[in-house]
Amino acid sequence: MPGQMRYPVSSMRDVAEEVLDKGLSAVLLFGIPKSKDDAASAAYDENGVVQQAVREIKKAVPEMVVITDVCACEYTSHGHCGIVGETRNGTDLLNDPSLDLMNRIATSHAEAGADIVAPSCMLDGMVGSIRTALDDRGFGETLIMSYSTKFASAFYGPFREAADSGFSFGDRTTYQIDPANRREAVLESELDVAEGADILMVKPAGLYLDILADIATLGLPVAGYQVSGEYAMIKAAAERGWIAERAAALESLTCLKRAGADLIITYFARDAAGWLVEEQ
Ligand code: PBG
Ligand code: ZN
Repeated sequence: MPGQMRYPVSSMRDVAEEVLDKGLSAVLLFGIPKSKDDAASAAYDENGVVQQAVREIKKAVPEMVVITDVCACEYTSHGHCGIVGETRNGTDLLNDPSLDLMNRIATSHAEAGADIVAPSCMLDGMVGSIRTALDDRGFGETLIMSYSTKFASAFYGPFREAADSGFSFGDRTTYQIDPANRREAVLESELDVAEGADILMVKPAGLYLDILADIATLGLPVAGYQVSGEYAMIKAAAERGWIAERAAALESLTCLKRAGADLIITYFARDAAGWLVEEQ
């Protein structure tokens, strides 16, 4: 997508300094490994791309809050978010082996120095399992930002292409939420509160402001994740001269705040930070 790129580990110092300079205080890291396999082994390698990137950023800019995406879909050869096998419903994610995998990934990120781990696989029991694993390893201070209400959305398309994480069979509807199901959307976040999440999330954000407003009442900070497809729509329309990019982007972000987002995750972060400074 225009304005977005993958960064090598060697650029982390420069990127972190630039981002801090723009007034941003946190980054969310996704990794693309050299090789993928069925066990997602590159995801918990202490010298994996994310683990190295975390160490680089923390060394260069210690005050930067480093958040890591904890999932397997960029690391599995089949592109699913965990360990896959035969279930009563055919080939699908296996919950318990996948939880063990998430524990290992999250712990390896915490060991590298991540301040917040952000599990995004939507497995049952994901937050409680990671909380216990972190506590057992002495990472009681590491926060968990759960992708607590994550819909099975068509708006992840550009991300999947960029991260090479599209699935080779099936889809994610057995572990992500049906966009039509409001009650389940709220319940999923409530479960994560009970399991010890520190920050909740609604993803995508812009089409789900009603849900964001509901989740904002649960007592924890909530993040709104403006996903790749939401960014792409504004970008593409702006490129065609059909929409004013800056105004549309800022409006979309303002509405996330209005609905109750305490944190905003957006591909417009750098641009928006600059625009907001200009407007002051
Ligand atoms: C998967 C993951 C996805 C995104 C981040 N992590 C989507 C998916 O379920 O394939 C999407 C982010 C975006 O679209 O910006 N764990
Ligand atoms: Zn995933």
